[in-house]
Amino acid sequence: MTKPIKVTVHGQEYVLYRDEKGMVCAGDAYCPHRGCDLSLGTVEGSELICPFHGWRFDRAGRCTRVPANRSIGDVPKNAARATCEACEKAEWVWLYTAPKREGANALMEPDLFPELCSDNWTRTPFQATWHAHFVRVVESVLDVSHLPFVHPQTTGADVNKEVDGPAFAVTRDRILIHPKPFASVHPMEPAEAVETEDERTEIELRAPNLWIIRTPMGDGNAMCTFLTFTPRDAQTTEIFGAVARNFDRDSPLLDEFHLSHTRFVMEQDQAIIESIRPVAPPFDLHREAHVRSDGPTIRYRAMMRTWLEEESLR
Ligand code: FES
Ligand SMILES: [Fe+2]
Repeated sequence: MTKPIKVTVHGQEYVLYRDEKGMVCAGDAYCPHRGCDLSLGTVEGSELICPFHGWRFDRAGRCTRVPANRSIGDVPKNAARATCEACEKAEWVWLYTAPKREGANALMEPDLFPELCSDNWTRTPFQATWHAHFVRVVESVLDVSHLPFVHPQTTGADVNKEVDGPAFAVTRDRILIHPKPFASVHPMEPAEAVETEDERTEIELRAPNLWIIRTPMGDGNAMCTFLTFTPRDAQTTEIFGAVARNFDRDSPLLDEFHLSHTRFVMEQDQAIIESIRPVAPPFDLHREAHVRSDGPTIRYRAMMRTWLEEESLR
Protein backbone atom coordinates (compact mmCIF):
# COMPACT_ATOMS: atom_id res chain seq x y z
CA MET A 1 0.00 0.00 0.00
CA THR A 2 2.80 2.49 -0.73
CA LYS A 3 0.32 4.02 -3.14
CA PRO A 4 -2.26 5.84 -0.99
CA ILE A 5 -5.82 4.61 -1.21
CA LYS A 6 -9.08 6.25 -0.22
CA VAL A 7 -11.82 4.60 1.87
CA THR A 8 -15.13 5.87 3.21
CA VAL A 9 -16.27 5.08 6.74
CA HIS A 10 -19.50 6.52 8.04
CA GLY A 11 -19.62 9.12 5.29
CA GLN A 12 -16.11 10.36 6.02
CA GLU A 13 -13.30 9.84 3.52
CA TYR A 14 -9.90 8.67 4.73
CA VAL A 15 -6.59 8.11 2.99
CA LEU A 16 -4.49 5.08 3.96
CA TYR A 17 -0.87 4.42 3.13
CA ARG A 18 2.09 2.45 4.44
CA ASP A 19 5.15 4.28 5.69
CA GLU A 20 8.72 3.09 5.07
CA LYS A 21 8.44 0.62 7.96
CA GLY A 22 5.25 -0.88 6.53
CA MET A 23 3.08 0.70 9.23
CA VAL A 24 -0.39 1.72 8.11
CA CYS A 25 -1.16 5.44 8.45
CA ALA A 26 -4.67 6.88 8.15
CA GLY A 27 -6.16 10.34 8.08
CA ASP A 28 -8.36 12.90 6.42
CA ALA A 29 -8.46 12.38 2.64
CA TYR A 30 -8.22 16.03 1.66
CA CYS A 31 -5.36 18.48 1.86
CA PRO A 32 -5.77 21.40 4.30
CA HIS A 33 -4.27 23.77 1.67
CA ARG A 34 -6.74 23.67 -1.25
CA GLY A 35 -8.57 20.44 -0.58
CA CYS A 36 -6.83 18.23 -3.12
CA ASP A 37 -7.51 14.48 -2.88
CA LEU A 38 -4.44 13.10 -1.11
CA SER A 39 -4.99 9.60 -2.46
CA LEU A 40 -3.58 11.02 -5.72
CA GLY A 41 -0.40 11.85 -3.83
CA THR A 42 2.78 9.91 -3.13
CA VAL A 43 4.59 8.58 -0.07
CA GLU A 44 8.21 9.24 0.86
CA GLY A 45 9.50 7.74 4.09
CA SER A 46 6.67 8.25 6.52
CA GLU A 47 5.36 11.36 4.77
CA LEU A 48 2.39 11.79 2.48
CA ILE A 49 2.95 14.35 -0.27
CA CYS A 50 0.08 16.31 -1.82
CA PRO A 51 0.15 16.15 -5.64
CA PHE A 52 -1.05 19.77 -6.07
CA HIS A 53 1.64 21.94 -4.42
CA GLY A 54 3.81 19.30 -2.80
CA TRP A 55 3.04 19.98 0.85
CA ARG A 56 4.27 17.13 3.03
CA PHE A 57 2.49 15.62 6.03
CA ASP A 58 3.92 13.30 8.68
CA ARG A 59 2.01 10.34 10.11
CA ALA A 60 0.56 12.55 12.87
CA GLY A 61 -0.89 14.86 10.19
CA ARG A 62 1.53 17.75 10.79
CA CYS A 63 2.65 19.63 7.71
CA THR A 64 6.45 19.43 7.67
CA ARG A 65 7.23 21.31 4.49
CA VAL A 66 5.67 23.87 2.14
CA PRO A 67 7.96 23.79 -0.92
CA ALA A 68 6.79 27.21 -2.16
CA ASN A 69 8.19 28.82 0.98
CA ARG A 70 11.87 29.62 1.04
CA SER A 71 12.31 28.70 4.70
CA ILE A 72 11.85 25.01 5.49
CA GLY A 73 10.23 25.74 8.85
CA ASP A 74 7.77 28.26 7.46
CA VAL A 75 4.50 26.35 7.73
CA PRO A 76 1.06 27.85 8.55
CA LYS A 77 -0.22 26.82 11.97
CA ASN A 78 -3.48 25.40 10.61
CA ALA A 79 -1.79 23.34 7.89
CA ALA A 80 -2.49 20.05 9.65
CA ARG A 81 -4.74 17.20 8.64
CA ALA A 82 -6.70 15.08 11.08
CA THR A 83 -5.41 11.54 11.47
CA CYS A 84 -6.87 8.47 13.12
CA GLU A 85 -5.51 5.25 14.53
CA ALA A 86 -5.00 2.33 12.21
CA CYS A 87 -3.57 -1.14 12.69
CA GLU A 88 -3.26 -4.36 10.78
CA LYS A 89 -4.59 -7.55 12.37
CA ALA A 90 -5.50 -10.91 10.85
CA GLU A 91 -6.31 -10.26 7.17
CA TRP A 92 -7.43 -6.67 7.54
CA VAL A 93 -6.57 -3.05 8.23
CA TRP A 94 -8.62 -1.58 11.09
CA LEU A 95 -9.42 2.08 11.60
CA TYR A 96 -10.44 3.60 14.90
CA THR A 97 -12.24 6.71 13.72
CA ALA A 98 -13.61 8.02 17.04
CA PRO A 99 -11.55 10.37 19.17
CA LYS A 100 -9.29 8.47 21.54
CA ARG A 101 -10.82 7.88 24.96
CA GLU A 102 -9.40 10.04 27.69
CA GLY A 103 -6.48 8.36 29.41
CA ALA A 104 -6.22 5.65 26.75
CA ASN A 105 -2.61 5.44 25.65
CA ALA A 106 -2.68 2.08 24.00
CA LEU A 107 -3.67 1.70 20.38
CA MET A 108 -7.39 1.09 20.08
CA GLU A 109 -7.17 -2.37 18.53
CA PRO A 110 -10.07 -4.68 17.77
CA ASP A 111 -10.55 -7.55 20.18
CA LEU A 112 -10.47 -10.28 17.54
CA PHE A 113 -11.69 -13.84 17.95
CA PRO A 114 -8.97 -16.45 18.53
CA GLU A 115 -9.95 -18.29 15.32
CA LEU A 116 -8.70 -15.26 13.35
CA CYS A 117 -5.33 -15.06 15.04
CA SER A 118 -4.28 -18.70 15.40
CA ASP A 119 -2.10 -20.67 12.98
CA ASN A 120 -4.26 -23.72 13.69
CA TRP A 121 -7.01 -22.30 11.53
CA THR A 122 -7.14 -21.87 7.80
CA ARG A 123 -9.04 -18.81 6.61
CA THR A 124 -10.50 -17.78 3.26
CA PRO A 125 -11.48 -14.10 3.16
CA PHE A 126 -14.34 -12.56 1.23
CA GLN A 127 -16.15 -9.24 0.89
CA ALA A 128 -19.70 -8.07 0.16
CA THR A 129 -21.49 -4.71 -0.09
CA TRP A 130 -25.06 -4.45 1.15
CA HIS A 131 -27.25 -1.42 0.52
CA ALA A 132 -28.59 -1.43 4.04
CA HIS A 133 -28.10 0.33 7.36
CA PHE A 134 -25.27 -1.02 9.52
CA VAL A 135 -27.53 -1.84 12.50
CA ARG A 136 -30.06 -3.66 10.30
CA VAL A 137 -27.24 -5.78 8.90
CA VAL A 138 -25.78 -6.66 12.30
CA GLU A 139 -29.22 -7.47 13.65
CA SER A 140 -29.82 -9.88 10.77
CA VAL A 141 -26.97 -12.12 11.94
CA LEU A 142 -28.31 -12.16 15.52
CA ASP A 143 -31.78 -13.19 14.36
CA VAL A 144 -32.44 -16.93 14.39
CA SER A 145 -36.18 -16.92 13.69
CA HIS A 146 -35.65 -15.98 10.02
CA LEU A 147 -33.65 -19.12 9.21
CA PRO A 148 -36.44 -21.47 8.00
CA PHE A 149 -38.00 -18.65 5.95
CA VAL A 150 -34.97 -17.10 4.27
CA HIS A 151 -32.70 -20.17 4.11
CA PRO A 152 -35.04 -23.14 3.64
CA GLN A 153 -32.45 -25.14 1.66
CA THR A 154 -29.41 -24.45 3.87
CA THR A 155 -29.11 -23.14 7.43
CA GLY A 156 -32.88 -23.21 7.88
CA ALA A 157 -33.50 -26.68 6.44
CA ASP A 158 -35.34 -28.97 8.88
CA VAL A 159 -35.52 -26.17 11.41
CA ASN A 160 -38.88 -25.73 13.05
CA LYS A 161 -40.37 -22.28 12.74
CA GLU A 162 -41.11 -22.28 16.46
CA VAL A 163 -38.05 -20.86 18.15
CA ASP A 164 -37.48 -22.08 21.67
CA GLY A 165 -35.62 -19.10 23.06
CA PRO A 166 -33.03 -18.61 21.68
CA ALA A 167 -30.73 -19.05 24.65
CA PHE A 168 -28.48 -16.01 24.82
CA ALA A 169 -26.34 -14.07 27.26
CA VAL A 170 -25.42 -10.40 27.19
CA THR A 171 -22.60 -8.46 28.81
CA ARG A 172 -21.80 -4.81 28.28
CA ASP A 173 -20.15 -5.40 24.92
CA ARG A 174 -20.86 -9.02 23.97
CA ILE A 175 -23.78 -11.16 22.97
CA LEU A 176 -23.51 -14.93 22.99
CA ILE A 177 -26.28 -16.97 21.36
CA HIS A 178 -26.83 -20.70 21.32
CA PRO A 179 -29.41 -20.99 18.58
CA LYS A 180 -30.48 -24.47 19.59
CA PRO A 181 -32.61 -26.02 20.83
CA PHE A 182 -35.06 -25.37 18.06
CA ALA A 183 -38.17 -27.48 18.39
CA SER A 184 -37.78 -30.58 16.26
CA VAL A 185 -39.70 -30.88 13.03
CA HIS A 186 -39.79 -34.65 13.41
CA PRO A 187 -42.48 -35.82 15.81
CA MET A 188 -40.41 -38.81 16.92
CA GLU A 189 -37.39 -36.73 17.90
CA PRO A 190 -37.07 -34.96 21.23
CA ALA A 191 -37.91 -31.25 21.02
CA GLU A 192 -34.64 -30.38 22.69
CA ALA A 193 -31.57 -31.95 21.16
CA VAL A 194 -29.16 -33.17 23.82
CA GLU A 195 -25.85 -31.45 23.20
CA THR A 196 -22.82 -30.96 25.35
CA GLU A 197 -21.34 -27.48 25.61
CA ASP A 198 -18.64 -28.32 23.08
CA GLU A 199 -21.16 -29.55 20.54
CA ARG A 200 -23.32 -26.47 20.49
CA THR A 201 -23.41 -24.08 17.59
CA GLU A 202 -22.48 -20.69 18.96
CA ILE A 203 -22.86 -17.14 17.71
CA GLU A 204 -20.76 -14.44 19.33
CA LEU A 205 -20.91 -10.71 18.75
CA ARG A 206 -18.19 -8.45 20.08
CA ALA A 207 -19.17 -4.83 20.10
CA PRO A 208 -19.75 -3.07 17.93
CA ASN A 209 -19.10 -4.98 14.72
CA LEU A 210 -17.30 -8.31 15.11
CA TRP A 211 -19.36 -11.47 14.65
CA ILE A 212 -18.62 -15.18 14.43
CA ILE A 213 -20.61 -18.39 14.17
CA ARG A 214 -18.87 -21.55 15.38
CA THR A 215 -20.07 -24.93 14.19
CA PRO A 216 -18.51 -27.94 15.96
CA MET A 217 -17.86 -30.93 13.70
CA GLY A 218 -16.88 -33.45 16.41
CA ASP A 219 -13.47 -34.56 17.74
CA GLY A 220 -12.47 -30.95 18.37
CA ASN A 221 -12.93 -30.04 14.72
CA ALA A 222 -14.89 -26.94 13.93
CA MET A 223 -15.82 -24.59 11.14
CA CYS A 224 -16.64 -20.97 11.58
CA THR A 225 -17.68 -17.94 9.62
CA PHE A 226 -16.44 -14.53 10.68
CA LEU A 227 -18.00 -11.24 9.62
CA THR A 228 -17.16 -7.65 10.39
CA PHE A 229 -19.37 -4.77 9.35
CA THR A 230 -18.25 -1.31 8.23
CA PRO A 231 -20.81 1.46 7.72
CA ARG A 232 -19.80 3.23 4.51
CA ASP A 233 -22.70 5.61 4.98
CA ALA A 234 -26.21 5.50 6.45
CA GLN A 235 -27.42 3.19 3.67
CA THR A 236 -24.39 1.10 2.76
CA THR A 237 -22.60 -1.53 4.80
CA GLU A 238 -19.41 -3.24 3.72
CA ILE A 239 -18.97 -6.76 5.01
CA PHE A 240 -15.49 -8.21 5.31
CA GLY A 241 -15.44 -11.83 6.33
CA ALA A 242 -13.68 -15.16 6.32
CA VAL A 243 -14.66 -18.79 6.42
CA ALA A 244 -12.33 -20.83 8.60
CA ARG A 245 -11.74 -24.34 9.89
CA ASN A 246 -9.20 -26.16 12.05
CA PHE A 247 -9.10 -29.47 10.13
CA ASP A 248 -8.20 -30.56 6.57
CA ARG A 249 -6.49 -27.24 6.34
CA ASP A 250 -4.94 -27.84 2.95
CA SER A 251 -8.07 -28.50 0.94
CA PRO A 252 -8.96 -25.91 -1.71
CA LEU A 253 -12.11 -27.93 -2.40
CA LEU A 254 -13.33 -27.44 1.19
CA ASP A 255 -12.35 -23.75 1.04
CA GLU A 256 -14.43 -23.33 -2.07
CA PHE A 257 -17.36 -25.33 -0.71
CA HIS A 258 -17.56 -23.34 2.53
CA LEU A 259 -17.12 -20.04 0.74
CA SER A 260 -19.79 -20.67 -1.90
CA HIS A 261 -22.21 -21.94 0.77
CA THR A 262 -21.63 -18.77 2.80
CA ARG A 263 -22.06 -16.51 -0.22
CA PHE A 264 -25.29 -18.28 -1.17
CA VAL A 265 -26.73 -17.86 2.33
CA MET A 266 -25.62 -14.24 2.58
CA GLU A 267 -27.14 -13.30 -0.78
CA GLN A 268 -30.48 -14.60 0.49
CA ASP A 269 -30.12 -12.38 3.57
CA GLN A 270 -29.00 -9.41 1.51
CA ALA A 271 -32.19 -9.34 -0.61
CA ILE A 272 -34.32 -9.26 2.54
CA ILE A 273 -32.28 -6.77 4.55
CA GLU A 274 -31.96 -4.33 1.64
CA SER A 275 -35.77 -4.29 1.39
CA ILE A 276 -36.30 -3.04 4.97
CA ARG A 277 -37.93 0.34 5.56
CA PRO A 278 -37.23 2.54 7.32
CA VAL A 279 -33.64 1.99 6.30
CA ALA A 280 -32.37 3.06 9.74
CA PRO A 281 -33.77 1.13 12.71
CA PRO A 282 -35.86 3.17 15.13
CA PHE A 283 -34.14 3.34 18.50
CA ASP A 284 -37.55 3.96 20.04
CA LEU A 285 -38.49 0.31 20.48
CA HIS A 286 -42.23 1.09 20.46
CA ARG A 287 -42.09 1.88 16.77
CA GLU A 288 -41.69 -1.78 15.82
CA ALA A 289 -43.38 -4.91 17.16
CA HIS A 290 -41.21 -7.45 18.98
CA VAL A 291 -41.52 -11.02 20.19
CA ARG A 292 -39.43 -13.22 22.47
CA SER A 293 -37.25 -14.59 19.66
CA ASP A 294 -36.15 -11.02 18.88
CA GLY A 295 -34.35 -10.87 22.25
CA PRO A 296 -30.76 -10.70 20.91
CA THR A 297 -31.56 -8.07 18.27
CA ILE A 298 -33.38 -5.86 20.76
CA ARG A 299 -30.47 -6.10 23.14
CA TYR A 300 -28.05 -5.15 20.36
CA ARG A 301 -30.13 -2.12 19.45
CA ALA A 302 -30.24 -1.07 23.10
CA MET A 303 -26.44 -1.50 23.33
CA MET A 304 -25.96 0.65 20.23
CA ARG A 305 -28.14 3.37 21.69
CA THR A 306 -26.13 3.36 24.93
CA TRP A 307 -22.80 3.54 23.06
CA LEU A 308 -24.02 6.38 20.85
CA GLU A 309 -25.28 8.31 23.87
CA GLU A 310 -21.94 7.80 25.65
CA GLU A 311 -20.09 8.83 22.49
CA SER A 312 -22.10 12.04 22.20
CA LEU A 313 -21.26 12.95 25.81
CA ARG A 314 -17.51 12.65 25.26
S1 FES B 1 -3.77 21.45 -2.26
FE1 FES B 1 -2.36 20.20 -1.27
S2 FES B 1 -0.54 21.29 -1.35
FE2 FES B 1 -1.98 22.60 -2.26
FE1 LIG C 1 -29.70 -15.27 7.41
